[in-house]
Amino acid sequence: MNADFHHPPDRRDSDSVKWGKYAGRDILPLWVADMDFAAPPAVRAALEARVAHGVFGYGAPGSALIDAALAYLEDAYGWRVQPAWLVWLPGLVTGINVAVRSVGADGAAGVLTCVPVYPPFLAAPKHGAQPLRTAALTQIDGRWAMDIAALEAACLPGTRLLLLCHPHNPVGCSWSRAELTQIAGFAARHNLVVCSDEIHCDLILDTDRRHLPFAMLGEAAAGRSITLMAPSKTFNIPGLGCAFAVIPDTGLRQRFLRVMQGIVPHVNVLALAACEAAFRDCGAWRQDLLCLLRQNRDRLEAEVAALPGLSMTHVEATYLAWIDARALSLPEGLSPAAYFETRGLGFSDGADFGAPGWVRFNFGCAPELLARALARLRHAIEIPAPSA
Ligand SMILES: Cc1ncc(COP(=O)(O)O)c(C=O)c1O
Repeated sequence: MNADFHHPPDRRDSDSVKWGKYAGRDILPLWVADMDFAAPPAVRAALEARVAHGVFGYGAPGSALIDAALAYLEDAYGWRVQPAWLVWLPGLVTGINVAVRSVGADGAAGVLTCVPVYPPFLAAPKHGAQPLRTAALTQIDGRWAMDIAALEAACLPGTRLLLLCHPHNPVGCSWSRAELTQIAGFAARHNLVVCSDEIHCDLILDTDRRHLPFAMLGEAAAGRSITLMAPSKTFNIPGLGCAFAVIPDTGLRQRFLRVMQGIVPHVNVLALAACEAAFRDCGAWRQDLLCLLRQNRDRLEAEVAALPGLSMTHVEATYLAWIDARALSLPEGLSPAAYFETRGLGFSDGADFGAPGWVRFNFGCAPELLARALARLRHAIEIPAPSA
């Protein structure tokens, strides 16, 4: 196991959004989706070499980066992507917003997604002045599932785009071939473009599951797909800003590129160097990371199962646990996220994901910090503060 996972750098006085939010307060930051670990050594070495070069002019993805990305996709998923299908982006949320605008360019096209979901899925249609329709995810036998009937009911004649989160943030599902096939059928019936955010695809924790890119279901699915991917979550380099879209259909890709014009900047040269090293040289580091995240997940799941008032489903993928705290007897008007902050725990508030009463717990941290967080969680549940 990589020793760095137990002794991550101190981020308190760094430029971290995650740690800065609670600067000067005794609240453990367990919210925004970055991990506390240093990037893999090969990524750091590539960055050092790039800095040593000393020239930071405008950059473009070179053939070594493109080869590394394509080889990674083929190795990991058996997905043979053509270089022409790639569109490089300085962030994946940028891609979601561009997708919304490129599909609904006449202002009349609606967007559909399942909730709860990563907040930019809910914001992007608003930014693009597109009507948003949502369908609630459901639970079947304690596992989250897409509700196709709910999607059918939410889909209007003008709906043109389905935003899919795969694996899903926050519910932690890695959608199966059968589930994706249902989604593809639904999209075909309504002639929808499917924008599949697969940023968490290399963080499948269950060893009996494998990520299947939506676009790999077949030619028809590929033809209506915009797949968004990035090395940022897996290798913990989100602050560098490097992502890409895979868009096999030429017309769709041209529309996507047109919307980007004059607005979306190039990927910066340090991010290009980091991305290439991440895809080419960090396989063993990723396996170590997955071991650690599995241990953290198992420990968290066992603790939450023993606490009254809290429940969660099994996390198949991601380092995010989606916890139902609606059964806590909190005073009216006090959200679980606000309550837990008073007990030294900084979770993401489920309300931002379309689900008040829930919290999202980021367990991408050192086991030692997780242990402190779990001790605080037990205390917060077993000995509520007088105001609660
Ligand atoms: C599903 C999902 N998409 C996108 C992002 C962010 O991507 P980026 O930082 O590249 O914009 C996140 C980060 O939490 C995420 O969970």
